[in-house]
Amino acid sequence: MMKLAVANIKGGVGKTTSSMYVAQAVVDRGGVATVYDADPQSSASLWADAARDNGEELGFKVLPANLSTLSRLGRDERPDVWRIVDAPPQGKLLQAAIESADFVLVPTSDSPMDLQQAWAMLDEARASRPAAVLVVRAEPYTSAYRQTLDALAEAGTPRFDTVIPKRQSIKKALGSRPRRLYEYRDLLTELQAIAKDLNGAKVVR
Ligand SMILES: Nc1ncnc2c1ncn2[C@@H]1O[C@H](COP(=O)(O)OP(=O)(O)O)[C@@H](O)[C@H]1O
Ligand SMILES: [Mg+2]
Repeated sequence: MMKLAVANIKGGVGKTTSSMYVAQAVVDRGGVATVYDADPQSSASLWADAARDNGEELGFKVLPANLSTLSRLGRDERPDVWRIVDAPPQGKLLQAAIESADFVLVPTSDSPMDLQQAWAMLDEARASRPAAVLVVRAEPYTSAYRQTLDALAEAGTPRFDTVIPKRQSIKKALGSRPRRLYEYRDLLTELQAIAKDLNGAKVVR
């Protein structure tokens, strides 16, 4: 089992989108996923409700989460069970989201300006959990993209090799079951390797 928190103190960086796409990628690969919506903006819940209204089957549950829920995410021995927390931008609930997780994914855009918040979030997360940055909504071949990746490399920031490009179909995915997962499939492959490492570490300890 893997418990993943998707967190950033900055809003509009792709937390909800990444939570939903990773969950769908898990399901498409035969696993079981649940998204815990811990953000008061409740975009993940809205997405699931809109999907239901549209008669779409997401294939995973989206549940509202509070401090109590997050402290009881529990443990499941099956390796293909994923609990994904769409974290809020601040406060006790953000801290609880981080502590509920085995690993923290920090999405950030390919704007160098957004990096400050991503680094701040990463530092906060890494005080208690392993964490890495995911560059999303990227426009490769632009100077902002290059600058962002250079700055991450220069700072030695842990990041996923997978980068999620900006895509119209991802932008319009709210309320639907993501049919094409694009680079999120590669991201899940990376996450599965991390999950395996984390589980191995537990056995050794
Ligand atoms: N890869 C992408 N390509 C295009 N638009 C994206 C992509 N990822 C996210 N978005 C859009 O960016 C906005 C913010 O994403 P969202 O997941 O709601 O962020 P957050 O949960 O951090 O507030 C939304 O309009 C979403 O559709
Ligand atoms: Mg959101």
